[in-house]
Amino acid sequence: MNPVIMPAMPAKYDDQATVLRELVLDKKDVTPLRDKITGVRSIAILSGKGGVGKSNVAVNLALALADKGLDVALLDADLGLANIDILFGVTPKFNLGHVMRGEKELSEVVFKVGERVSIIPGGVGLRDLAELDEESQSWMINRLSFLEEETDLLIIDASAGIHKNVLSFAMSADTVLLVTTPEPTAIRDSYGVLKSLYQATKGAISISLLVNMASDEKEAFMVAERIISASEQFLGFKVPYLGCVPWDSEIRESVKKRKPLLLNEAESVAFPYFRALAQKIYESSEEGQSSKKPVKRDTFLWRLLRQGGNGEKQ
Ligand SMILES: Nc1ncnc2c1ncn2[C@@H]1O[C@H](COP(=O)(O)OP(=O)(O)O)[C@@H](O)[C@H]1O
Ligand SMILES: [Mg+2]
Repeated sequence: MNPVIMPAMPAKYDDQATVLRELVLDKKDVTPLRDKITGVRSIAILSGKGGVGKSNVAVNLALALADKGLDVALLDADLGLANIDILFGVTPKFNLGHVMRGEKELSEVVFKVGERVSIIPGGVGLRDLAELDEESQSWMINRLSFLEEETDLLIIDASAGIHKNVLSFAMSADTVLLVTTPEPTAIRDSYGVLKSLYQATKGAISISLLVNMASDEKEAFMVAERIISASEQFLGFKVPYLGCVPWDSEIRESVKKRKPLLLNEAESVAFPYFRALAQKIYESSEEGQSSKKPVKRDTFLWRLLRQGGNGEKQ
């Protein structure tokens, strides 16, 4: 138990929290996770190596998906190098740690950066989140339920590599987007992540590849092919290829300006690629498949808390 967390926990649970707590404690009554999923509502963005463009992909995909009418929340879950705030040129004051200590409600931590896009700074609180005991999990689930009501899609920008918390994020999300570049180091490391994830989940993971910073579509495809054929040969599974984003010097400029690429007036080379990727993701989301509001089901944060950070599937 993290001593920082306990003082904030209320002595008595309200009704909703009690129900959630019972759900957590009585695991027999919980339907297996993947059985409940009918569409994509959370995407964890992963990579083997750092600096491959995960955060820029997360930010621009969030904007492109918001343009399609989805309410998107972007969880900055890179525990070491969180920088989504910088990419948007904003300085949120609070993070999930404040929610955990009972100092803020989640609604005060969610930072709006556009009509349909919000960012949630994870902060160190996110590391603790995966290590809560069951009672504290229930309490947090109650506080985090706001997110479930407010967003159509949660995009999680995770740390590079496959540390324990990355594995938890990946396994809690509906799907994983594995980002690589054409560099041999990035290719090898992304295969490493793929292998670890595949083995940890015994193959029960939804994952696809995105090749960033490619000189053109042909190069991106060849890079994807290398990872696909390695996964086929050594893991016996064919990882799907979602698509690519080409090298675009405007992305670098946008980082310097602290204004995401997709908010630029003038379109640059990467624009249509982000839109095409967003379209594919949109089509796999519930909103893309039907105009009805999605049925309530396990959310990313709920699953993350249920896992207790041990990387085991419930
Ligand atoms: N498609 C691209 N073309 C050119 N530069 C890119 C592209 N994608 C990302 N970058 C640059 O690469 C660097 C790392 O990107 P970032 O999103 O921070 O990576 P990560 O989150 O994986 O560490 C940044 O300087 C960014 O401007
Ligand atoms: Mg990053």
